[in-house]
Amino acid sequence: MATLRLIIILTLSFTATVISVTGHNITEILNEFPSYTSFNNYLTQTKLNDEINRRETITVLVFNDTVVSEYLSGLDISVVKNALSVHVLLDYFDLPKLQTIGGGSVMTTTLFQTTGEAENGAGFVNITDLVAGKVGFGSGGSGSKLNALFSRSVKQIPYNISVIEITSPIIAPGVLNRSQPLDVNISSLLEKSGCKTFAKLISDTGVLQIYETTEPRGLTVFAPSDAAFNAASLPDFKNLSNNDLISLLLYHALPVYVPKGSLLTVKNPIGTLATNQVQKFDLTVRTNGDSVTLDSGVDNSHVESTLLDKVPLSIFKIDHVLIPAGFFPHSPESAPVKSPESSPPAPVVPITAPVSTPVQVPVHGPVAASPAPVARNSPVKSPPVSSPTTSSPVAGPAPADSPDADTGNNDNNNSSGGVKASVMFLALVTVAVSGMISSVFG
Ligand SMILES: *[C@@H]1O[C@H](CO)[C@@H](O)[C@H](O)[C@H]1NC(C)=O
Ligand SMILES: *[C@@H]1O[C@H](CO)[C@@H](O)[C@H](O)[C@H]1NC(C)=O
Ligand SMILES: *[C@@H]1O[C@H](CO)[C@@H](O)[C@H](O)[C@H]1NC(C)=O
Ligand SMILES: *[C@@H]1O[C@H](CO)[C@@H](O)[C@H](O)[C@H]1NC(C)=O
Ligand SMILES: *[C@@H]1O[C@H](CO)[C@@H](O)[C@H](O)[C@H]1NC(C)=O
Ligand SMILES: *[C@@H]1O[C@H](CO)[C@@H](O)[C@H](O)[C@H]1NC(C)=O
Ligand SMILES: *[C@@H]1O[C@H](CO)[C@@H](O)[C@H](O)[C@H]1NC(C)=O
Ligand SMILES: *[C@@H]1O[C@H](CO)[C@@H](O)[C@H](O)[C@H]1NC(C)=O
Ligand SMILES: *[C@@H]1O[C@H](CO)[C@@H](O)[C@H](O)[C@H]1NC(C)=O
Repeated sequence: MATLRLIIILTLSFTATVISVTGHNITEILNEFPSYTSFNNYLTQTKLNDEINRRETITVLVFNDTVVSEYLSGLDISVVKNALSVHVLLDYFDLPKLQTIGGGSVMTTTLFQTTGEAENGAGFVNITDLVAGKVGFGSGGSGSKLNALFSRSVKQIPYNISVIEITSPIIAPGVLNRSQPLDVNISSLLEKSGCKTFAKLISDTGVLQIYETTEPRGLTVFAPSDAAFNAASLPDFKNLSNNDLISLLLYHALPVYVPKGSLLTVKNPIGTLATNQVQKFDLTVRTNGDSVTLDSGVDNSHVESTLLDKVPLSIFKIDHVLIPAGFFPHSPESAPVKSPESSPPAPVVPITAPVSTPVQVPVHGPVAASPAPVARNSPVKSPPVSSPTTSSPVAGPAPADSPDADTGNNDNNNSSGGVKASVMFLALVTVAVSGMISSVFG
């Protein structure tokens, strides 16, 4: 288990880089004000910062750290996210505008309204111009009071973003009630949502366990629909080694919590759970309005829907199986990027290293073989290291000739290929993955 954790920590170092599209950066704005440090940290933890940065014409109602600790301490982070998203108004309000509200009162939409979780007006905020120049804020939910008052202007970038301090939080009815901890059964959620094949694969291979171990620190899963596994264009991966199948499944998850709003702001390729130091196994995100496409370098997959968004876990349903570039040997993109006169081997490749496991390739039936044979079928054999003992990779000396540690490719018909990198690490990984698999198969 400790080793599994090590793998995951290593994987975490290849984390997504998220870049904003608009000009403002709420984190930077609030960094200048020490009294909003907790508020700012919460925005980052919940990824509301990405949502704020990508929107134009927005107002953020902040309160100081004293109020934050009274209001938010001890709450589940997914509740904090909802509670704070009530404070993000989808319109621009600075003091002059607040003091000239037509009719003295306006109901404005908040980010919470966009989540679909808001009920009975809880997604709106009532702003009322009170007597003596005071401005009051209250939830639009029925029975709410105007309990928060304008305190001061913090920062205005007309008409993109306005940050205003209020005296107390706006409490939308019901928003604090949902404080039950995250307890999601990923398998059953996937099964219910038309991703049965994927659910079975991750459970059979033990990848589900890696997902679950990663989840507390943030996890995003891209689950291909059952239709995606039936696609005629899908390369035949029925014969993938167990190893490669695990890599493929790990490729469908990120070691970070990336809700839809953050996905829309991703610019650079993002590392997946399969990313390691030898092969990137990353994904490029393309957006068009609110629609998101994942580009593996070989194919594109469209994000069909959000199955779950609850900090720190988000699960999306996608319409194609993601095939990493270079994964199937004869695809045009598979030319490995290995320089012949390269530096010493990188310290390796957890998950995808050859695993000497006695377990058979666990694809039972559900994976549809592509009816139309695809040219890039892989002539896969069982994992290359043939000895049944997990310690065997250590026994062989590492050949000095080639620097590559062949990981994803299946055309490695030379069984010593996997020993080419850090021998000790490989052994650790082998033990971990074998242990994991045998625990799954009992
Ligand atoms: C916003 O500012 C913070 C703090 O300076 C920085 O760490 C972060 O990368 C910035 N975000 C973007 C999207 O530029
Ligand atoms: C406001 O947002 C627009 C669009 O993102 C951007 O072009 C502009 O520079 C921003 N204005 C300021 C003052 O940052
Ligand atoms: C806002 O709340 C005040 C006080 O409850 C109420 O009088 C006013 O009608 C509300 N404004 C709107 C636009 O609903
Ligand atoms: C925080 O805000 C509250 C409400 O405006 C105020 O009473 C309190 O003095 C503030 N605390 C600090 C440390 O600024
Ligand atoms: C939330 O809790 C309050 C009491 O704390 C209760 O009156 C209210 O009905 C609850 N709302 C929901 C949506 O459960
Ligand atoms: C989760 O759901 C799956 C399938 O629905 C079930 O087999 C499994 O026992 C559940 N796990 C837990 C911990 O409830
Ligand atoms: C997969 O393996 C089976 C049996 O091992 C073999 O008959 C079949 O030809 C293989 N298919 C491919 C595409 O390699
Ligand atoms: C692997 O096998 C293929 C044909 O099956 C052959 O062309 C190739 O030279 C072999 N590679 C090695 C390293 O033996
Ligand atoms: C595998 O590689 C070793 C060392 O590079 C070489 O001696 C051996 O002939 C190769 N075997 C095959 C089947 O290519």
